[in-house]
Amino acid sequence: MKFGHKLQVKIDGYDKKGRGLAKAEIAPGIERDIAVPHSAKGDELECVFIKRDHAVKICEIDKIQKAGADRVEPVCEHAGKCGGCIWQHLRYEAQTAEKMRGVRELFAKLDLEDKVLDAIPAVETLYYRNRMDYAVGWNGEIGLKETGSWNRYVDVKECHLLQPGAGEILQIVREWMLKHDLQPWDVKFHSGDVRYVVIRDGVATGERMVIIVVADASRLSNEAKQSLKNAVGTNPMWSSLLIGEQPKPADLSYAESFEVLGGKESITEIVNDVTYEIHPNSFFQTNTKMAARLQDVVLSAISDAKTKKLLDLYCGLGFFGIAAAKKIGEIEEVIGYELDEEAIKLASQNMNLNGVGERCRFFSGPAEALEWKDVEADTLILDPPRSGLHHKVIKTLLSEDSPIYPQTIIYVSCNYHRLEHELPSFMEHYEIESIQPLDLFPQTRHIETVTTLKRKADS
Ligand SMILES: C[S@@+](CC[C@H](N)C(=O)[O-])C[C@H]1O[C@@H](n2cnc3c(N)ncnc32)[C@H](O)[C@@H]1O
Repeated sequence: MKFGHKLQVKIDGYDKKGRGLAKAEIAPGIERDIAVPHSAKGDELECVFIKRDHAVKICEIDKIQKAGADRVEPVCEHAGKCGGCIWQHLRYEAQTAEKMRGVRELFAKLDLEDKVLDAIPAVETLYYRNRMDYAVGWNGEIGLKETGSWNRYVDVKECHLLQPGAGEILQIVREWMLKHDLQPWDVKFHSGDVRYVVIRDGVATGERMVIIVVADASRLSNEAKQSLKNAVGTNPMWSSLLIGEQPKPADLSYAESFEVLGGKESITEIVNDVTYEIHPNSFFQTNTKMAARLQDVVLSAISDAKTKKLLDLYCGLGFFGIAAAKKIGEIEEVIGYELDEEAIKLASQNMNLNGVGERCRFFSGPAEALEWKDVEADTLILDPPRSGLHHKVIKTLLSEDSPIYPQTIIYVSCNYHRLEHELPSFMEHYEIESIQPLDLFPQTRHIETVTTLKRKADS
């Protein structure tokens, strides 16, 4: 089949990337699976073969002949193109049903289907994020990457993921770039001035931080900085304005250094009465209202385990550990461990801010290099990045001569597909008590899971 080939298909499910899947006759008598981004189950479509993603043939919708039952009119004008919301054309209930089908199917492979609880649905399905990293495209677009592309961008006018007001900010930055002849970044040739516009919100505090990430901050004139400050001055929503510098050629939205043009260098967020100071580069759960539900689930598992000593591995700026120390009086000690040094500095600040400094200790370093012999824990939180646990962490934790034997492990994962590979090793020594999915990411294919593991009596 050549690019540009036209096909008639009916979508009968979705792949792991959230694309609709169909069987298509690519030549007389020869059927193959094809993937169609932004399609819905039941859709009857005319589509065009546009590219390959490894072995998968990707087709683009040309015409919807008959819409599937779950298809709805998206609220955003960029839906269907923008990589931010790949499922805005699906009813919310159909989104969670599809996510749960994937979760149940995976855990059925491990014979754990009966341990999967019903998903906790999102509190809000739009405007729920507290952080967005909008890229500046080589043609001057500011927004998100197109679905499936690394160098094509949607010029976002209004974004329905972040708290309202993002569109206005992006427009101010566009006009500011034109006025001062600042060039958009070219991700292919690594040239240009302005690379990302990162917006972070303290949803509970109403604070908003805007970070303009540039390749070389010394190229910004004082006049350009002043005019950006003036534009902000007319917009009380921005409580912090920073210029960040990222000189590396790789496509990175975080900055290596910052200049504060207005406000402070951090924002404050409050979740379930716990206050967190957040640095522009630090990880923080991106859906504040659902982060509160996630924290409830994790704290209830910690409390049920009658935890006295808690190890919070991959702790970030102390999101779970500090909340546990503050809310569960029986906890004697929390130790947090995390790669990002800035996050650890903030965790130490946050523990004092919440009055639990005497019962918490935070250290920075890679989890795979942790000297476990110095740590005592009856409950262990694991909340690794999307890539999952380092194999050394699993090996050390489960080895015969492991220095720690947590009775309870609470594994928080934003990528449940990793659990298929990781849980079997744990299951030699641990029973899986429950798997609680939570929808922290509406309009996307992602879902968070909290798996509670209990050490076997004879292990
Ligand atoms: C999903 S976040 C969770 C953070 C925290 N538990 C929270 O809820 O805010 C994963 C964290 O793992 C950290 N991380 C990534 N690689 C690591 C490693 N090798 N060792 C320790 N921490 C790591 C990241 O910096 C990030 O803060």
